[in-house]
Amino acid sequence: MFPGQGASEEDVLRELEEKTAEDLTFDSGRILGSMCTYPHPFAVKVVQRYIDRNLGDPGLHVGSQKIEKEAVDMLANLLGLEKGYGHIVSGGTEANILAVRAFRNLSDVEKPELILPESAHFSFIKAGEMLGVKLIWAKLRKDYSVDVRDVESKITDNTIGIVGIAGTTGLGVVDDIPALSDLALDYGLPLHVDAAFGGFVIPFAKALGYDIPDFDFRLKGVKSITIDPHKMGMVPIPAGGIIFREKKYIDAISVLAPYLAGGKIWQATITGTRPGASALAVWAMIKHLGFEGYKEVVKRAMELSRWFAGELKKIPSVYLIREPVLNIVSFGAEELERVEEELKRRGWGISAHRGYIRVVVMPHVRREHLEEFLRDLREIVAGLTP
Ligand SMILES: Cc1ncc(COP(=O)(O)O)c(C=O)c1O
Repeated sequence: MFPGQGASEEDVLRELEEKTAEDLTFDSGRILGSMCTYPHPFAVKVVQRYIDRNLGDPGLHVGSQKIEKEAVDMLANLLGLEKGYGHIVSGGTEANILAVRAFRNLSDVEKPELILPESAHFSFIKAGEMLGVKLIWAKLRKDYSVDVRDVESKITDNTIGIVGIAGTTGLGVVDDIPALSDLALDYGLPLHVDAAFGGFVIPFAKALGYDIPDFDFRLKGVKSITIDPHKMGMVPIPAGGIIFREKKYIDAISVLAPYLAGGKIWQATITGTRPGASALAVWAMIKHLGFEGYKEVVKRAMELSRWFAGELKKIPSVYLIREPVLNIVSFGAEELERVEEELKRRGWGISAHRGYIRVVVMPHVRREHLEEFLRDLREIVAGLTP
């Protein structure tokens, strides 16, 4: 009920504390199945300080708009381009929708179709539905990467673009983006790479010597990339990123916003009013950590993932779905649903999907959290064994 009289700040805060006591928090180390994390304290500071900036009306916040452009260029740079075109958006969902929208608007096909891997994130289902684009699902190979030959077999005159994933949501698999890029070039189609998760992992993991396929704008068929700072970038939610290779993609999705206080603009994002603080926090975090800082974050997460995968293999009736590629470890077990239920009952933030439980080794996850999880898992599995 909408209260008639206001309450004191203390009373309201107390009530909030009581109600949120039910929440799992990232700093507790109990959330193992999420791609979000406890944001970096410096990024939190930046968000608090610039909380009032609205990039939906950039004529008012000209400095912030310039900073967003610089953030986009730094992300483009990380992904192999000198200059990119795009925005800091609400997340990977919005970024993927914008890419599909750009591909659709630049094609003159009446019944547009988009080819994407069966492993693609559900945000594409939203995009397809909203934009009237039919989704054509391509099969996966045994290693869970998309079968590029199946993608090719599904290309028709109605195809408006292809999607590849660099860091799938379930298993962290990186598709063969070089082959998809060649295919896209051969057929004159744009390739979108969903690196919502992998974008802030792969460049650093490669620099650390991990053998991961190329996935970015260095491949000429890649025309757009989703990269989310609110995942491994450690920026507070909401902070997604969409980067296009050329300006024509942004132009194709821009609509005129005529009556803003800061003057009329062309707006490409789905959201109108949007947090400038997010873009500033992305910029600030990249400046603060730099390539070397993020490399350290990724090093820790990758090493911990491999240790964890090794420990899981030692538990009878537990098996890895595949060796981890990034910092995501997914495993199956006998009586998986019961294992999941019991893990949840013991307060772990995980979920089972498609026959496995996935653990995302985010920056808030420490070895002692995983040791505790392994202790619980061992106990549960032993209890289920007849
Ligand atoms: C590969 C991939 N793409 C897109 C998304 C959607 O991102 P968001 O939840 O920020 O909208 C996710 C989220 O987990 C993802 O894993």
